[in-house]
Amino acid sequence: MAITQLKIKHVRNLNNVALRPDPAINLFVGENASGKTSLLEAIHLLALSRSFRTQHIKHVIQHEKEQLTVFGQISHSAGVEIPVGVARQKDKLIVQIGGKRIQGLNQLAEMIPIQVINNDSHKILESGPQYRRRLLDWGVFHVEHHYFGVWQRYIQGVRQRNSALKSRKGIKELKIWDRSLSDLGEQIDQLRTNYLSGLRPLFTEKLEKLAGINVDIRYRRGWDKDQSLGEVLERTFLRDSEKGFTQFGPHRADLQFYCGSVPALEKLSRGQQKMLVSALRLAQVEYQQLNSPRRCVILVDDLPAELDHYHRQAFLKLLSKDMGQIFITATEANLIQFEGLPDYKMFHVEHGEVRPAVVEH
Ligand SMILES: Nc1ncnc2c1ncn2[C@@H]1O[C@H](COP(=O)(O)OP(=O)(O)O)[C@@H](O)[C@H]1O
Ligand SMILES: [Mg+2]
Repeated sequence: MAITQLKIKHVRNLNNVALRPDPAINLFVGENASGKTSLLEAIHLLALSRSFRTQHIKHVIQHEKEQLTVFGQISHSAGVEIPVGVARQKDKLIVQIGGKRIQGLNQLAEMIPIQVINNDSHKILESGPQYRRRLLDWGVFHVEHHYFGVWQRYIQGVRQRNSALKSRKGIKELKIWDRSLSDLGEQIDQLRTNYLSGLRPLFTEKLEKLAGINVDIRYRRGWDKDQSLGEVLERTFLRDSEKGFTQFGPHRADLQFYCGSVPALEKLSRGQQKMLVSALRLAQVEYQQLNSPRRCVILVDDLPAELDHYHRQAFLKLLSKDMGQIFITATEANLIQFEGLPDYKMFHVEHGEVRPAVVEH
């Protein structure tokens, strides 16, 4: 899988951009405010129909325009290309795959597995557990496609349970529903646990290469490790009714990072935290590609700027190791070039225009 053609209209300062990305590595070079992050944002919109910078699409649509569109030609299996288009207005979203309008966005997400590495990446360590769950679920979803359905049914079940607990209606039926809720919850936990056992060695290897440190990932499943979810739901039923919500289950799971017995956040420098999250995301990409025929798209925004020469080289080397289709931005070309760089395409970004640069390989 790779994006072979990209057409972007009215995404921030990108008025009308068309390019043919390389299936492996794409470098975008341009001054500040030229439109580099907007370009990555447009690719993210194509993959997930939303931005990684804001939840407010009106900030992304070009000033004075009604709608943004991103169109991509996606090479699927050998010789097969599928057109994908995303159009967003303030209150309306239209997604088309292969010329047909689709409703459920998981079909889009499944098609283009995407990871973003930028200067905000480390925030995932200190922000709420929902962000780390989302990261974990990204991985499970792209390896086990039935995960989405299980997870969706579980979340629906929790919502119904919570509203029954609040309104105190249908409390009797709740005990029966709890059986199916605990089944789904246990399945989610099992899939997450399996995923993490595959991911850990890849993460360890990458973090060692990137930063020469060792960090453990600890998984908190969201309820007592010695009891089944069914037992916990029963035991905490009264307390849940008082509180009006379901306190335990995989919707409360979390990932924690430790250097020995010390939380990584307390020990690692900001730069090391960034490497940790980069290693985690790159490990997810590798694991996904080992377990599924789909290749990932990786967006790397401005990251090299904050790294010293040695760590930048280590990072770029890892990236270039058949890690899917990569889009990297930088303010200067020499920040993202390195010895042994495989084939790539370079583009110049200037005042919202993107042009292929002539490069000597
Ligand atoms: N909705 C918008 N419409 C038009 N221009 C915008 C919009 N939002 C941001 N911009 C402008 O787009 C330009 C490019 O921003 P950005 O992609 O972040 O640049 P870079 O990443 O190259 O530093 C900036 O000058 C910014 O002010
Ligand atoms: Mg930028």
